[in-house]
Amino acid sequence: MRSEFLHFSPPSIGDEEIDEVVRTLRGGWITTGQRAEQFERDFREYVGAPAALAVNSATSAMHIALAALGIGAGDAVITTAMTFVSTIHVIEHQGAHPVLVDVEPDTLNIDPERVEAAVQQATGVKAILPVHLYGHPAEMDRIHGIARRHGLAVVEDAAHALPARYRGRLVGAPVNGLSERHMVAFSFYATKNLTTGEGGMLTGTPAMIDLARTWSLHGMSRDAYRRYTAEGSWRYDVVLPGFKYNMPDIQAAIGIHQLRRLDEMQRRRRAIVAQYDEALGALEQLETPVPRPEVESAWHIYLLRLRPGRLRIGRDTFIEELRKRNIGASVHFIPIHLHSYYRDRYQLRAEQFPVAHREFERMLSLPLSPAHSDQDVADVIEAVTDVVKRNRA
Ligand SMILES: Cc1ncc(COP(=O)(O)O)c(C=O)c1O
Repeated sequence: MRSEFLHFSPPSIGDEEIDEVVRTLRGGWITTGQRAEQFERDFREYVGAPAALAVNSATSAMHIALAALGIGAGDAVITTAMTFVSTIHVIEHQGAHPVLVDVEPDTLNIDPERVEAAVQQATGVKAILPVHLYGHPAEMDRIHGIARRHGLAVVEDAAHALPARYRGRLVGAPVNGLSERHMVAFSFYATKNLTTGEGGMLTGTPAMIDLARTWSLHGMSRDAYRRYTAEGSWRYDVVLPGFKYNMPDIQAAIGIHQLRRLDEMQRRRRAIVAQYDEALGALEQLETPVPRPEVESAWHIYLLRLRPGRLRIGRDTFIEELRKRNIGASVHFIPIHLHSYYRDRYQLRAEQFPVAHREFERMLSLPLSPAHSDQDVADVIEAVTDVVKRNRA
């Protein structure tokens, strides 16, 4: 058994990131400036987006996307019950309300059939907010089709989906016929495939990104870099009641180099996934993830599901047993209907989300990071196999 605890998703930080942060700190400009601008440019080119805005989290990116799209009081946004809470919080922050629907059993992504039904049934629906759970793109052709037919906006929660492809197109790139009503939010949180510690990026059309930029910085007509530098002017106007969501150059310095290393980090991620698939797919007590043929997953999270009736222990004990073997597993996510705030506010019941509810009970996420060594991966496989063997039904 390993002697040290294996963390679930440690960051992979290279010397390039560290050196760039030091240069930034020594350079005299540490908040949003030229490095944030460069990170936005590099990111936009990487995913093929028309425009991009660097912010301090994916939560902020989704919030200002909704603000820029004019979604507010009385409006409804259709989204998934199987996500991190901030996907839902941003809808509440705007005074709108979430219409939660259940997920598809294989990917646990929002079910397009249920989206269609919700558009028919709910009133005031203005947008769909799909989440590309675990890095596996949601069924976007269907979702974009529904959005086009009903004149709805689409805000994608791509917190897990860098870099992910749906029918060859990178998540974040434009989609025919939606343009101004389509925005995509990425996360650079500490555990994400690309990290800046905390951070996020929003992509969309240049006009929408300009508007989102104003929302991201107090609603001011000019950012600090354009006010304080030699060519700037101190004068500005406030055109809307914006937020404080900008990404400082200290973080952009990390992001610029993480992006350059992203493809290499993804290769490592896929190699680990292949090892898990081979070793754990052979155990009949477990279900390993099977991506759909039309996607390339970003493999942010490796989901393991316990087959019903094949083990004498449940998910909670399984995770506890892994912890005893110094392996840090986790669960993504506690479905929204189980959180007391949302359960009570919208009278949500488990029967409304049978798939999300059932799958939550038997899911866990294994450690997955390009920073993990071959030994780390072997330790995880050994621990999981041992827990399975000792607890067969
Ligand atoms: C699905 C999903 N959406 C949104 C977020 C929020 O991202 P951030 O922490 O960058 O705000 C997360 C997690 O961090 C997430 O897992």
